[in-house]
Amino acid sequence: MTDQSNSPQQDQDGLERTEPAEVTVAQAARKNGFILALFALVSTGLIAITYTITKDKIAQEIEAAMARRLNEVIKKEEYDNDVYHDCTTIKDPDLLGTADYLNVYRMRNQGKDYALFLTSIAPDGYAGKIKLVLGVYQDGTIAGVRVTEHQETPGLGDKIEIEKSDWIKQFDGKNLQNTSSDSWKVKKDGGEFDAMTGATITPRAIVKAVYNALQFHQKNKTSLYKGEQNCGDDQ
Ligand SMILES: Cc1cc2nc3c(=O)[nH]c(=O)nc-3n(C[C@H](O)[C@H](O)[C@H](O)COP(=O)(O)O)c2cc1C
Repeated sequence: MTDQSNSPQQDQDGLERTEPAEVTVAQAARKNGFILALFALVSTGLIAITYTITKDKIAQEIEAAMARRLNEVIKKEEYDNDVYHDCTTIKDPDLLGTADYLNVYRMRNQGKDYALFLTSIAPDGYAGKIKLVLGVYQDGTIAGVRVTEHQETPGLGDKIEIEKSDWIKQFDGKNLQNTSSDSWKVKKDGGEFDAMTGATITPRAIVKAVYNALQFHQKNKTSLYKGEQNCGDDQ
């Protein structure tokens, strides 16, 4: 058997002619490059089209999920403004657990400041960050807290979800006046909040985050109700 790939070929006149291998390799590389570029272009186009089609739907779903959470803790009948378009952004890494801007929604009744719907992060959960939303009345009393995202362990730390247990309802009606600063801890640490059997880290993180969020509220509530409406569509 002979290897003919780089061996001289003979043309019709019987003269020897060589076909450099680099020419065919370069042609193949160009062809593959073109196919790859075309593939990337088509994929990018498809992603852009999908995003455009689904953007509004996603925004609606986020708003609906927010509405569900919000109206679980503060009933629709309690306020009369268009709460989703009465929103401003806040940032306080120390008290809200993130360096990101967060949305705060304002509820008003007959023009009077009624309550705020705040987002906050407990950064030190057992398995990372725990995202919370809090309804806080104008006087600083908690209407309710809900966990919206977490990675805590199923069967242990996940009892913080309202769908799994009533644990999160412990915060209803609490404020910085009726609960002293020493009490904002789990019972094991000398405070007044229950933990869960075999899971103290998760509740500890949430109690601290809720306490911090109330301090944020106390410090900023006047400006929060006045802050300009500046929440983007994608926030
Ligand atoms: C696999 C595994 C998963 C755990 N998941 C959690 C959890 O989600 N939340 C939590 O608070 N503790 C969890 N724990 C228990 C904690 O490690 C810790 O023992 C418990 O929170 C008590 O903490 P303490 O000693 O500070 O009271 C888990 C333990 C193991 C072994």
